[in-house]
Amino acid sequence: MSKYPLDRILQSQGFGTRKWCRELVEDGDVVIGGEVVTDCRTPFETDGLEFSVYGDPWKYREHVYLALNKPADCECSRKPSHHPGVLSLLPEQFALRDVQPVGRLDHDTTGLLLMSDDGSFIHAQSSPNRHIPKIYVATTHDPVTPKLVEHLLAGVKLHDEPAPLAAIVCEMLDTHQLKIVLEQGKYHQVKRMLAAAGNHCTALCRTEIGQLKLGVLGLKEGEWCYLEKEQLALLRSPETG
Ligand code: URA
Repeated sequence: MSKYPLDRILQSQGFGTRKWCRELVEDGDVVIGGEVVTDCRTPFETDGLEFSVYGDPWKYREHVYLALNKPADCECSRKPSHHPGVLSLLPEQFALRDVQPVGRLDHDTTGLLLMSDDGSFIHAQSSPNRHIPKIYVATTHDPVTPKLVEHLLAGVKLHDEPAPLAAIVCEMLDTHQLKIVLEQGKYHQVKRMLAAAGNHCTALCRTEIGQLKLGVLGLKEGEWCYLEKEQLALLRSPETG
């Protein structure tokens, strides 16, 4: 159980500086349990706290864990240069509480992107030692052949990589479409592997991370949702249970 003054709680949730949060409260813009709270020093228990700011409902969260269905033409970089950044698709509170993408997708890659403000979660998810499979659907320029599938499963040598990189699963979905499962997350890995195997990737979508499936989340492109405990538990390798 932890009680904090309301201005401090609002600041922790990304509503701006302490001063700005104090003004929000004093101006009567914050409602808790149906009551407008105007004294910013009032302490509230954060566990289970629900409140609204300018009429929008919020729930206190120590950290946020989000899934975004990333559209194309959108950059994961913190300082996007050619396209809008993924943070522009989220409420501004998230940028203010330092939510960041977990790893990166290329600007033209679509699909499942995790985002969080929890540094240890980001670190753990990005760790190569965790062997969390990432599942991609790649559209190819040239037809998919059994030889291409074999090649990707056997491993391809990429420039700058000491050892060949292999897909842990590679299945033909259509004449020009492959499902590719990778455990690493090297720079442009799917595209580079397809190029090294003699084809060319024309579109790429990440559909799953661990056992968390974009299809089950039901997000349209550009939409996001919170990930709760049960969904976070799916972010692991099937072998680790
Ligand atoms: N592999 C790629 O080539 N691009 C991505 O965005 C992700 C994996």
